[in-house]
Amino acid sequence: MSQMLKKIDEMNYFELLAWLGIGSSHPGGMPYTRQYLPELELSSNHYVLDAGCGTGATTCYLAKQVGCKVLGIDISEEMIAKAQKRAEREGLGELVEFKACDVTHLPLPSSEFDLVLAESLTVFLDKPRVYKEFYRVLKPGGRLADVEMALVQDLTPEVREEMEQCFGPRTQPLSFEGWVGVLQKAGFIYIGTLLPQYLRPGSNQIVQELRNDWVFIKELVSKIREPGLMARLKSNAEFNQRNQAYFGYGVICGRKPEEFGLFHHLRRVLRG
Ligand SMILES: C[S@@+](CC[C@H](N)C(=O)[O-])C[C@H]1O[C@@H](n2cnc3c(N)ncnc32)[C@H](O)[C@@H]1O
Repeated sequence: MSQMLKKIDEMNYFELLAWLGIGSSHPGGMPYTRQYLPELELSSNHYVLDAGCGTGATTCYLAKQVGCKVLGIDISEEMIAKAQKRAEREGLGELVEFKACDVTHLPLPSSEFDLVLAESLTVFLDKPRVYKEFYRVLKPGGRLADVEMALVQDLTPEVREEMEQCFGPRTQPLSFEGWVGVLQKAGFIYIGTLLPQYLRPGSNQIVQELRNDWVFIKELVSKIREPGLMARLKSNAEFNQRNQAYFGYGVICGRKPEEFGLFHHLRRVLRG
């Protein structure tokens, strides 16, 4: 019998994901990650931060594919414990490391990473604050790649309310231009959106992702019959299906300037 502290309908979206141990809950899921990662042209000497790594599916995939070191961080201790288990099972102890911490106050030195990767994280948080931290921990010339949901048309008040019920009251997707604007304000340059997509049915199918993720499949079998689980998953999937015309997603990319000279400092100050 699985351990469950809260009833399914009392869990918020993150608690549900952590309890299920879902590996890829970002738009496009693992297939999208496999599609965009090669475009980032990473090599084994890069050091990557996977921010809001969840159970570490992308962290481990990246380390395996590229052979680079990756630090996965997540605010949820439960997610981090599962991510560590995944890395152990995949024999990636040398390359990956995990840490439970808050992305808005990273206990990490400045100018440390070649790439900060985030998948479905910033949409739920205070964006300027998160990007300020990402900027700080990147090396000069380092890159940010953030996979987020984007609005392709304004939400009606009803759809917004339903979205907040499914994903939490702080969920706030921006338009693609809106995402670019926040990155600009944070001081990033060479900003753009890689592989923009429209939301399609099945682009974020929690059940589908769970079926394809062998690491936690055994634990899942014991949970699948918990009262209310299938109804909750179905209602999230149906929200996406009914409202797909409002949403797209893509990899919002930017670069920290090579030299943090007086010119860039003045530009940031003038932008506020
Ligand atoms: C939608 S999930 C995405 C997880 C993973 N990136 C993926 O694609 O499956 C968002 C993750 O962000 C984590 N998170 C939320 N707020 C955070 C914060 N302030 N600092 C670090 N992680 C946070 C949650 O615990 C959750 O694991």
